[in-house]
Amino acid sequence: MPQITFHPDLRSIDVRDGERLLAAAWKAGVGIKSVCGGHGKCGSCLVEVDAAASAADALLPPTAAEIELLPPEYGARGYRLACLCDVHGDLALSIPPESQAVRNSPRKPYTVTDVTPRPIVTRVCAPVAGAYEEPMRPLAERLRTAFSQALGRKAVELPVGVVADYSTLPGFDGASEVTATLYSERTVLSLQPGRASALYGLAIDIGTTSVVAFLCDLVHGRIVGMRTAGNPQAIYGEDVISRMTHIQQDGAALADMRQRLVDELNRLIDEAAAEAGIALGDIVDTVVVGNPTMQHILLGINPEPLGRGPYMPVWADGVELSAAELSLHALPRSRVFVFPSIAGYIGGDTLAALLTRGPEFYRGTQLLIDVGTNGEVVLVHDGALVATSCATGPVYEGAHIRCGMRAVPGAIERVWIDPKGKIRCAAIKDGEQGTDRRPIGLCGSGVISSVAALVGGGLIGEDGGLAPPQSHPALSGSAHGRAEEVTLVAGAYSRTGRDIVLTQHDVRSVQLGKSALRAGIEILLADCGIDKADRILLAGTFGNHLEPDDILKIGLVPPVPVERVRSIGNAAGDGARMALFNRNHRRRAGALARRVRVLELSLRADFQDLFVAHTVLAPEAQALESV
Ligand code: FES
Repeated sequence: MPQITFHPDLRSIDVRDGERLLAAAWKAGVGIKSVCGGHGKCGSCLVEVDAAASAADALLPPTAAEIELLPPEYGARGYRLACLCDVHGDLALSIPPESQAVRNSPRKPYTVTDVTPRPIVTRVCAPVAGAYEEPMRPLAERLRTAFSQALGRKAVELPVGVVADYSTLPGFDGASEVTATLYSERTVLSLQPGRASALYGLAIDIGTTSVVAFLCDLVHGRIVGMRTAGNPQAIYGEDVISRMTHIQQDGAALADMRQRLVDELNRLIDEAAAEAGIALGDIVDTVVVGNPTMQHILLGINPEPLGRGPYMPVWADGVELSAAELSLHALPRSRVFVFPSIAGYIGGDTLAALLTRGPEFYRGTQLLIDVGTNGEVVLVHDGALVATSCATGPVYEGAHIRCGMRAVPGAIERVWIDPKGKIRCAAIKDGEQGTDRRPIGLCGSGVISSVAALVGGGLIGEDGGLAPPQSHPALSGSAHGRAEEVTLVAGAYSRTGRDIVLTQHDVRSVQLGKSALRAGIEILLADCGIDKADRILLAGTFGNHLEPDDILKIGLVPPVPVERVRSIGNAAGDGARMALFNRNHRRRAGALARRVRVLELSLRADFQDLFVAHTVLAPEAQALESV
């Protein structure tokens, strides 16, 4: 069996002879960028093979199709494309930073929300008569009597599996007290000898790109651990449409995506629990939020109807099932609450973000915008909530971009033009002394920032076309009199040795996403009979990384004074924790989902005109003049 070793952490995996390298990497938990979903079309799944530590015949030589996608220096650097290589022998390799799977870690991973703890799971201790006191009554009967008295009920049911480990039963006889873990004060989830009061729970936010798990103390309403990771389903493509396509084409893909997700969540839970010194059996409640596709996949429901009109979810209501049914690492009989969805593309994550808003949100007119691989917008006007979703594409997460990468050290996040007309870039630093500070690529905010700066500097026209190549030394290539790319950082100054560029195609992707988002926003405003919002709230990764000034400069959002555009951080995760800490918020979530009116853009005759009108990359006043 061939073995693959991934540098630098020396993670190893045995694979079957002929296994595709990309699939093996993901199986090993090593995320490799796969923009085209592993179809050998994009060249993003670059790996660097260590020839000295690999068997000579581990990989067949690259085919002409692979060579065409590889960078010119592939021979000298040992570059190969993981989705086009089958493994036939022992192999050692590393993943260049620009090919590591996009996983934007939230800069502000959470906001501490003021929630009065009122968890739906509680613990009750009761004195239980010992076997020597009542020798003729079996243990189960003595337990039933003890908890009936403690809870003031006639009869308490002790369902099968209530004692997680039957080898502990002798311990019950010796204990003067037994603790019952109760769901909603009625259902006994578990019994354990002795007195226990600690209660822990999980709030999980599943995004198309990243997953975040919060381990929380339910008694005191605080976070005790947090873990984040890339969504391992990215092996099937970076957006939900690619994943749905795989599910359509391959009968086993849904189960595989679900399993990968559950395995990754369990890894995060194990790590967070071990670090906090918490037993998995003390994790007694879980709340999950995600976009509708992620929620469907987690529940094992084929999300295919979400990909075709009328884009209806198979199941939009909240779902409650046991941790054991989901194979999640928590008390087996504990409940997992999966948030309701608002519509086919507006999921539990948007609902959770809404849940975090207090009464001030409902005064005046405000927009709440979350753009990931899809854009969700909620408008509140005079207390009424209207929402829509727009196909913005994954460009705002730094994906499907020639030099796109995740928001990690080395990623360019800010671009500007200095008074001498030179393009300047700032990359995310890792804070360690002596590390390589040269940039590697562009993360989502770097893409938006560069478009805003280049529009301001005249290198990109308001129509999104690059200026003629002779108008600036950074412009190169030529098609129909326009340049084809802008060099932001020359190869001599980048960590990869290759130019970091923004291509015409990249700019068009930003432009298309922007037009879709603006058309959606304008339709919401018009539907409420208004033409502007008072405030704009940015949620999720989008809000975490972007400068309000940049998005106003290219007209990505309607004009408001810059100080009225505000990031609210990872609001979906914050909302999930609120529902975990206090049961009332679960009920509120259901009521909120029913209160939101949804506008389906595909049914709107005015969408196309608005889409075209807002392709202009300029602040509003100029944009409208140009239309
Ligand atoms: Fe696109 Fe490999 S070429 S993922």
